[in-house]
Amino acid sequence: PLYKIMFGLSELEERIRKYYGLKQVVIVAGDSENSLHSKRELGRAGCAVLRKVMGKDDVVAVTGGSTIAQVANQLTSQTPLKGNWFVPARGGLGESLDYQANTIASTMAKRTGAQYRMLHVPDHLGEEAYTSLMQEPNVREIVEVIRKARIVIHGIGDAMVMARRRRVDATVIEAMKAEGALAESFGYYFDRKGAVVHKMLTAGLRLEDIMETEVVIAIAGGQDKAEAIAAVMRFGHDDVLVTDEAAAMELAAIM
Ligand code: G3H
Repeated sequence: PLYKIMFGLSELEERIRKYYGLKQVVIVAGDSENSLHSKRELGRAGCAVLRKVMGKDDVVAVTGGSTIAQVANQLTSQTPLKGNWFVPARGGLGESLDYQANTIASTMAKRTGAQYRMLHVPDHLGEEAYTSLMQEPNVREIVEVIRKARIVIHGIGDAMVMARRRRVDATVIEAMKAEGALAESFGYYFDRKGAVVHKMLTAGLRLEDIMETEVVIAIAGGQDKAEAIAAVMRFGHDDVLVTDEAAAMELAAIM
């Protein structure tokens, strides 16, 4: 592509990093939406970033999705990461098993010799169900671990794509659309400016936890996700963005 010839990916990384005030941007070649090779590369780059920030006794909260699954499938460690814990960032969001945060957290732990915990509750709960579930010592204990995670690694999706994939109620989808939902991440929906639309009670990471998390890593690629990525970057709590060339060029075009 012309952009790559003219400026190179490292210049593009730097432009995006500065624009969104991030600590690091990593761009892999190609378009992960149309190339499995590129999607694997995205996952591999995610592994490198994650391994670099992980210490000896960290809790890493992970979201679901096919992109983070690519990180999980390639994560390795030469020595077992015994003191580290992988936990799901959120409860069940209606994803297929392979893409659920619980599955991804356990895969990451097994591949690296780390520990993991699961959260076996549906994510979106009514007030009553939430209150009674949080009284369960087992649930409460794991939720407390999740909310204190030092590292969060998450995917980003288009709001409507994600809402449909998770079979969100049609009336809720319409309401979110009316509120300008453009992006989905951590189970939350964001508008163009990065403001959260349609807040709900959640067993798992809340917005206020994400705001306090020391290291937040976003991984998302594909041209069609550029607007969603921009929206989550405007929310403004990510430290690292790992993306692909197709999304990055579109991001640069809308900056
Ligand atoms: O929150 C966003 C989704 O988990 C992204 O899913 O990586 O399959 O596009 P994906």
